[in-house]
Amino acid sequence: MKPTVTLTAEQVAFFHENGFLALDSLTTQEEVAWMRDVYDRLFLERAGREVGDQFDLAGTDEEDKEAALPQILNPVKYAPELAEGLFRVNAFAVCRALLGPEATMGGDHAILKPARIGSETPWHQDEAYWDEAVLHESVSIWIPLQEATLENGCMWFLPGTHKLPVKPHHSLNNDPRIHALEIEEEVDMEKAVACPIPAGGCTIHHCRTYHYTGPNKSEVNRRALILGGGLAGVTLETPRDFYWNKTKTTARDERTKAASENR
Ligand code: NI
Repeated sequence: MKPTVTLTAEQVAFFHENGFLALDSLTTQEEVAWMRDVYDRLFLERAGREVGDQFDLAGTDEEDKEAALPQILNPVKYAPELAEGLFRVNAFAVCRALLGPEATMGGDHAILKPARIGSETPWHQDEAYWDEAVLHESVSIWIPLQEATLENGCMWFLPGTHKLPVKPHHSLNNDPRIHALEIEEEVDMEKAVACPIPAGGCTIHHCRTYHYTGPNKSEVNRRALILGGGLAGVTLETPRDFYWNKTKTTARDERTKAASENR
């Protein structure tokens, strides 16, 4: 399959200046409808829950509590059909156009913001979740499977923040049982840019760009499939201190640990 999306020089320059980019169309509406069916099945089946691949990003993740922001890591593991498709071919082309021909793809996840109760994803930098000893040059390609609007929780970015280092973060509500991280500093919403986009469009952001999504106040689930891509990480001679990851004790980690011990 050949890519059908080509970035203009202006789009590439915009990304490098601002740390994000929005595209109205990454794939066809037919493919989006198919992806949505697969996606809904995975959340309905609670795919990956037992081994810690599915968990509540914004809550304490108890078994009997409805998740405010369920996430599935590596959904392809549970739906191998998602390994193929125009969305993936185009995402790879976009990633290479932004980061160069050595870029590779990897690290998918799915974040569902349930209708009416879906909570916000606090302002953060993605790299704050990762290895403090490895510097990344990577992007996330965020694909909504229905229109993404201000009402249902579209992406917001703070332009230019990809040029900053990883800033201090804390667990949401300062609760180490919650997976989601929030950046310490107050973000001025006046300077932030919202990116409402059609179903099957995408936003692309750098791993250090500050970003946020609002709560879902609509009557429709807000589904987003996120594809990662980037250059090989560089191991730092002097690692940073991501202390906020060291105190985390999530139910998800417990499930991952139990599953690996039972293997
Ligand atoms: Ni993020």
